[in-house]
This record gives sequence, C-alpha cells and structure tokens, in this order.
Amino acid sequence: MDVTLIINFTYIISCILFAFGLKMLGSPVTARKGNFLSMVGMLLAVVVTLFSKGILSYQWILLGIFLGASAGIFTAYRAAMTQMPETIALLHGFGGLASLLVDWSAYHNHPTTDPIITVSIFLSILIGGVTFTGSCIAWGKLSERIPGKSIKFPGMQFLNIGILIALLIGGVLFISNPLGSYPVFLTILILSFVFGVFLVIPIGGADMPVVISVLNSYSGLVACTTGFVIHNTVLIVVGALVGANGIILSIIMCKAMNRSLTNVLFGGFAAEVKKKGSAEKKEAKSISLEDAYLILEAAKSVVVVPGYGLAVAQAQHAVRELSEFLEKNGCEVRFAIHPVAGRMPGHMNVLLAEANISYDQLIEMEEINPMLDTVDVAIVIGANDVVNPAAEHDKTSPIYGMPIIEVYKAKTVFVLKRSMAPGFAGVENELFYNENTLMVFGDAKQSLQGLVAEFKSALV
Ligand code: TAP
Repeated sequence: MDVTLIINFTYIISCILFAFGLKMLGSPVTARKGNFLSMVGMLLAVVVTLFSKGILSYQWILLGIFLGASAGIFTAYRAAMTQMPETIALLHGFGGLASLLVDWSAYHNHPTTDPIITVSIFLSILIGGVTFTGSCIAWGKLSERIPGKSIKFPGMQFLNIGILIALLIGGVLFISNPLGSYPVFLTILILSFVFGVFLVIPIGGADMPVVISVLNSYSGLVACTTGFVIHNTVLIVVGALVGANGIILSIIMCKAMNRSLTNVLFGGFAAEVKKKGSAEKKEAKSISLEDAYLILEAAKSVVVVPGYGLAVAQAQHAVRELSEFLEKNGCEVRFAIHPVAGRMPGHMNVLLAEANISYDQLIEMEEINPMLDTVDVAIVIGANDVVNPAAEHDKTSPIYGMPIIEVYKAKTVFVLKRSMAPGFAGVENELFYNENTLMVFGDAKQSLQGLVAEFKSALV
C-alpha cells in the first residue's frame, strides 16, 4: 500500500483524537482522558511522520527526541503545581521557536518563489519570534526572575509602531523577492524577537495568564503556517485548533474578569484601577477559631469558596480534612468554583483535585448562586474579588459587571485571609463589612488546621 496514503490516513485519526481530546479538557471529569487521547494523537502523528520520504537523518531525530524528552521529563518533575503557568509559558515559547527554526531551515535549504510558501515563512518567523521572546518574558515575570510589574518607558508605543511598520515593509520586500532577501529575512527574524519583548514587558505580572493564553494561540498559528511550508496536514489542522482554542480561552478569561482583550494586552488593569471602596468607614468583625468552630459544628450546609490565597497558603489538603470532619458531622459540603478564581484557568480545580476532593463536590458559579441563600456557612478561603458584591451594583468599581459568587446571601460568611488587603483588582471588598460576615484572620492553612484541631479535640 502507498506509504503517503497510510501517513495521511493516520494524520486524520490524529486530528480526530486531538479534537475529541480538546473537547474533553472542558470538564475536570473527562480532562485526564482528554489529555490521554491527545497524547495518543501526538504519538501517532510523530511515529507516522518518521516514515515520510523527506526524513534525512534518523540519528539527529533520535538525538533530538532524547534531549527534548529528557528536558521535558526533568522540567515536569521539578515544577510545583503553583509553577504551572510559567512552565506552560516556557513550553509555548519553545513551540514557537521550534516552528520558527523549521521554517528557517526550509527557507535556507529550499528557497522558493511560491507565494503561499513565502507568505507562510514570513508569518511563521514573525509569529514564532514574538511567541518565543514574549513567552520568555511571561515566564520571567511569573517566576519573578524579572520584575512582575508593568515596565514602560517614554516613546515605547512609538517604538512598537515603528517596529511593526518595519516588519511589514520587510515582509513586503521578502515576499516580492524571496530568493535574494536573506538579509531582509534575518532583519525580520531579529525584529520579531525584539517585538515579542516589547509587547509583553508593559503588561503587569497578574495579567500574564491571559497573555500566556494569547501566546498559546500564537504558537498554534505558527505551527499552522509551518504546516503550509513543509506540506504537513496534521500541523495545519492541529495548529489551527490550538490557535482557535487559545483565543477562545483568552476571551473567556477576559469576559469572566469583565475586561476586553485589548485592555489586557494594551491597557493594563493596574494602571486604571483607583483604590476605591464604599465601605471605608465601617468596621469588619473578626472571630476566633474556637467560636468559628462552634458555628461550623452546628452547620448543616457549608459552601467553600476557594481563591488565590488557597494556592498561596497551599491549604488544599487542610480544607479537604476540614470538609471530611464537617461531613462526618452530618453537614453537606460543596465547593463553589469561580471561572477566574486564582491566577490561571482551572487553578482551583487543579488544587482541589491534588487534595483528592471529589469532582461531584465542585459546583460552578451559575449553579451554586441560586442555592446560596439556603446555605448556613460560606467559607471564603483566600478569595476576594470573586466574592466582592460591588461587582454587582457599584458602577464606578473597576470590577463592575464581573459575575461573582454571591456568598453574601449565605446565613453566615467566614472570610479566611491574613489582613484587610485587597486582591488582584486592588479594590476594597464591602463583603467584609456586612452584618453576616466574620473575618478569620491568619494564613489560610494555619486557620484551617486550627479548625481541624478543634474538631479533633471535640472527638476525644
Ligand atoms: P484575589 O482577589 O486576588 O484575592 C486573593 C486574596 O488571598 C487576597 O486578598 C489575600 O489577602 C489572600 N491571601 C493571599 N495569601 C494568603 C494566605 N496565605 N492565606 C490566606 N489568604 C491569603 O483572588 P480571587 O478572589 O481568587 O480572584 C482572582 C483575581 O485574579 C480576579 O480579580 C481575576 O480577575 C484575576 N485573574 C484571574 C485569572 C485566572 S485565569 N484565574 C487570570 C488573571 C487575573 P491577604 O493578603 O489579606 O491575605
């Protein structure tokens, strides 16, 4: 049988596996299976590609697989759960770089005047370069190797526009005369790297998850254009899938934060936030762990709302222990998940899954909100913006319009955090001053361990 036919047929199977895999990543219940399906799709695509006629050297490929796999395994084992966003940023960056190098090698070894290929090479170098350096900056900001705050200098916007114009002129020159344009090609390459840096450094570290999702989309697009250059269908399809997924995810994240993508990429949330709160003059009430225990001990239903502070405190195991004691005490315990709680999509799902909290207990925001007025105690753990009622009624608040988990409706609300400090959006939270809200000050893990200790001592 014709080898090309077998290869193309297997590529179709890979694409189907990727499409189903991506669909399954949409729910925590099917996510593992989805990941596995996509892995099988990738394995099939890699293995059949090794049978193509264009393979020049198996030794180099084997060396590449060995080095790449070793680096991948090493990085994956070393990265803590909280370092996932920065690790993913780096992986996208290398994806962009790999595509760029493939296109460079294609141009170097087989220069052509075919307009589809030259346009694809230009786009690949441009997007690949931006993806690589942009992702490196995102990685640096998230891992605090470079300052996370927005870095700007006078005239930066003009410089960026200048670079963009130079890139477009370079593109026209390259596409109109690809065979005699090696210096133009190299200029485009260097300018793309510089452009990636200047696009990402002005964005604050807290907006990096959205940036990473956008760069993920770019890494898909560059794989797609590379597919056109090397005539590889699976790269075209999968690149388009990743490109579309990345952009859809970025838009979902922005919507859940009530911001536009343009505002995240070119505006800067922190810059426009005025520290404003309508509750400055009121006093918040705090409660001791002993008294909080007495209220929990009598509760029949509890909803836990985790947020970024749960990740900072690494309190996921402690909250599981507390939920087990509550359940033993005849209380129904559910976990309410806000789509942008934490700092990356699915952050809370990942943390709670790590502590073996059952998926059945995780309830999406839209589903839990109508039930909250029947709940005895809502325990807010290191969450702030995602439970701030100002988002519902204060038109002057920067978070106005962002959907929230309406914990204020519960009979009693416990807020576990270290101080009255605001969260990501930098705004005060009027929830803390409500009649039914009681602050449990301290590190979330220590507070939860304290509550667990109260339950334990009550059993003795
Ligand atoms: P935030 O509003 O950021 O609040 C987190 C709170 O955790 C802080 O107020 C902090 O208060 C507390 N905290 C920190 N360390 C703690 C510890 N060790 N123990 C106890 N509490 C601790 O978090 P959120 O409610 O999860 O909201 C997420 C925010 O991030 C939203 O504004 C969202 O738009 C934004 N965002 C999300 C994403 C994604 S995709 N999830 C991406 C970008 C931006 P103290 O300092 O007083 O303890």
